[in-house]
Amino acid sequence: MKGRTILFLITVTLVGACGSKPEQNKEEYGEPQAISEGVKVSEDLVAQGAALVKKNDCNTCHHATNQIVGPAHMEVAKKYAFTDENIKLLAERIIKGGSGVWGQVPMTPHSGLSQSDAEKMARYVLSLDGEKEPE
Ligand code: HEC
Repeated sequence: MKGRTILFLITVTLVGACGSKPEQNKEEYGEPQAISEGVKVSEDLVAQGAALVKKNDCNTCHHATNQIVGPAHMEVAKKYAFTDENIKLLAERIIKGGSGVWGQVPMTPHSGLSQSDAEKMARYVLSLDGEKEPE
């Protein structure tokens, strides 16, 4: 009985400590930069990437789940783990174009894209298999 009471007290203390954490962070680091309310930064970048893929010519050759001229973006997501390295690698392929990874048909370069936009699109593609960017 005594043991339970102590456990209860520890639990209450821990929950209490967690509950007050955001308050402390605010004081120490200031307000977090609001990008979209309630959305994590990494998820926001994925959403921006999805919009950029729609806006650019990607969908003339790519479909999320079907192979057209290029591989289904879902297959690309399955092939590559969601890592910083692969975000950079795919962003580079999106900007410079590529060939020989999925077949003999080359992907046209998109030299007008910025590195940061290309990385957002890479994040969107990598997210399609449900994998999340590691925090
Ligand atoms: C003219 C057709 C075409 C267009 C337009 C196109 N792609 Fe591709 N894409 C391809 C082909 C073909 C491949 C396979 C290239 C290979 O085998 O290396 C590919 C491969 C890729 C890959 C995988 C690269 C790799 O090395 O595994 C990604 C990611 C990708 N495309 C994203 C995009 C995005 C984002 C856009 C829009 C900015 C886009 N593609 C526009 C044809 C296209």
